[in-house]
Amino acid sequence: MKIKINENYRSVGKSYLFSEIASRVAKFTAAHPEARMIRLGIGDVTLPLTPAVTSAMSAAVSEMAEKSTFRGYAPEFGYDFLLEAIKRRYERFGVALGTSEIFVSDGAKSDVGNITELFGDNTVLIPDPVYPVYLDSNLMAGRRVEFLPATEENGFLPMPDGIRGEGYIIYICSPNNPTGAVYDREMLAAWVDFANRTGSLIIFDAAYEAYISDGCPHSIYEIEGARACAVEICSLSKDAGFTGTRCSWTVVPSELTAGGMSLCEMWGRRQATKFNGVPYVVQRGAEAALSDTGREECLGLVKYYMENATRLASVLRKRGVTFTGGVSSPYIWLKCTGTGSSWEFFDRLLTEANIVGTPGAGFGKCGEGYFRLTAFGSHEATDEAAARLRTFF
Ligand code: MLT
Repeated sequence: MKIKINENYRSVGKSYLFSEIASRVAKFTAAHPEARMIRLGIGDVTLPLTPAVTSAMSAAVSEMAEKSTFRGYAPEFGYDFLLEAIKRRYERFGVALGTSEIFVSDGAKSDVGNITELFGDNTVLIPDPVYPVYLDSNLMAGRRVEFLPATEENGFLPMPDGIRGEGYIIYICSPNNPTGAVYDREMLAAWVDFANRTGSLIIFDAAYEAYISDGCPHSIYEIEGARACAVEICSLSKDAGFTGTRCSWTVVPSELTAGGMSLCEMWGRRQATKFNGVPYVVQRGAEAALSDTGREECLGLVKYYMENATRLASVLRKRGVTFTGGVSSPYIWLKCTGTGSSWEFFDRLLTEANIVGTPGAGFGKCGEGYFRLTAFGSHEATDEAAARLRTFF
């Protein structure tokens, strides 16, 4: 062909981290069909949607079956009933938002990737290790990326101290995927202060906020000054079990302006042009997940997964394996044992214990030497994994 391609694609890895893992596991299972695999790799939930959600979705399906209640295209930024439910959710954290600042979408992953379209040639600050979509989507856009090393020394929570320059796009994920580290109020206030002083924008990924158990902020907007410098992305995937159902939202405060343009209007313009809304049935399910009953049920799911984290952590502790996470996070971040890279550790765990995890190197250079296990399995699978890990370590 004679077309020109986006040359930036040359700088992203050949395959997306979780696609690479899936392909290695598929190869292994094809060669070893007898292996009883336990999948603690991708953070995919295993418990079903809760009763409040499924009954709301069933009722919505019935509405779609009747001429008088059928719905076509959804409003591009979300139905009012869901925007109001999200607004009420923030009120529980003492955060006041306007519904025109909330944009419903089909997933935090999409929004994390798509929002990069709003920005020009800025330097992007990305924690290392972190959710690989931040880096990949900015590489695809050809941006300069600087890493914020998250190490044992800084508790996996990099801070802005010593960063010179201005006009950064800064990614913060708290609770962090993959390390499970959570920023407290004071630390987030330091980031907000830095962003406001340097005219930078924070993209705050709150996808795991429901797992916070220690009083740390659930939303960046709990911090004074954050409305002037932060966008927040949140999702129902990990707490309401929506990984396959798809519903999330992005908050873009009306105060955010750059280059004389409102980011809220720009994001609205982008979404209206390129996105046709989340299905009505799903939005009704999301509304139910955010209701008081729905929240109770979702907290039950979170509790179940955290019980898994406790069971895995207990084995690691007994075996003297160094790890973090598993407290305000469904992820356990352990130090690889033995010699070799985290991908070699992945292969060893796969072949010797038939357990799938995620190599730390897949989340960034500083992730080398570490390994992530998810607590999103069933109790039965987790117990079996714990038993195998007891032998493995
Ligand atoms: C993960 O395993 O890191 C996540 O499940 C990936 C995602 O949320 O897209």
